Amino acid sequence: MSSDRTEQLRAIKDEILNLTESPLYDYRKRNNYYPVIGQGNHYAQIMFIGEAPGKNEAETGRPFCGASGRVLDHLLASIGVPRADVYVTNIVKDRPPNNRDPLKTEIDLYAPFLERQIDIIQPRALATLGRFSMEFVLRRFGVYRSGARISQLHGTVISARAAYGMISIVPLYHPAAALYNASQRGTLEDDFQALRQFIGSQ
Ligand code: URA
Repeated sequence: MSSDRTEQLRAIKDEILNLTESPLYDYRKRNNYYPVIGQGNHYAQIMFIGEAPGKNEAETGRPFCGASGRVLDHLLASIGVPRADVYVTNIVKDRPPNNRDPLKTEIDLYAPFLERQIDIIQPRALATLGRFSMEFVLRRFGVYRSGARISQLHGTVISARAAYGMISIVPLYHPAAALYNASQRGTLEDDFQALRQFIGSQ
């Protein structure tokens, strides 16, 4: 059944599909890539926010469907949450060439779409994956402290005010970190425990 939220999210998708002013638009077209809008429950309590799509994601249009996605699935399973219960998206909706870090201009261009996704889905918790998304979300909600580092903030719960009510921001390391570093995997598993309190019905 199509809901109001589905309609509003579809409008975002249509706008991004036609986002010719994006510096990543030509690269998307040349490679027959898709933009990656987001995937999951439109009534999710927890929204995961990554950086930008990788190759697998751009080829399928689905977020976190490659190696990092398998780590994310494992972490969700460790707290008993099916992927279908959460919403997963990125700040930047198109793949940057060669997996380079997203540029500030790209983050600024795509951020309004993420902000709309947050306001439509109204999650109780924003779980940021990696430092770009942590910084963006903390700044956006006015709780960024100068010099804040992911090495200090990972796994903590930071309260903030969204347009629709109070939310919790939970900075997490990017799942890709666990691919190259086994101890990061343990840290991510520990930090995921902080998300348990947001599991439940809306
Ligand atoms: N890394 C991200 O930040 N996002 C994805 O969707 C995949 C990998």
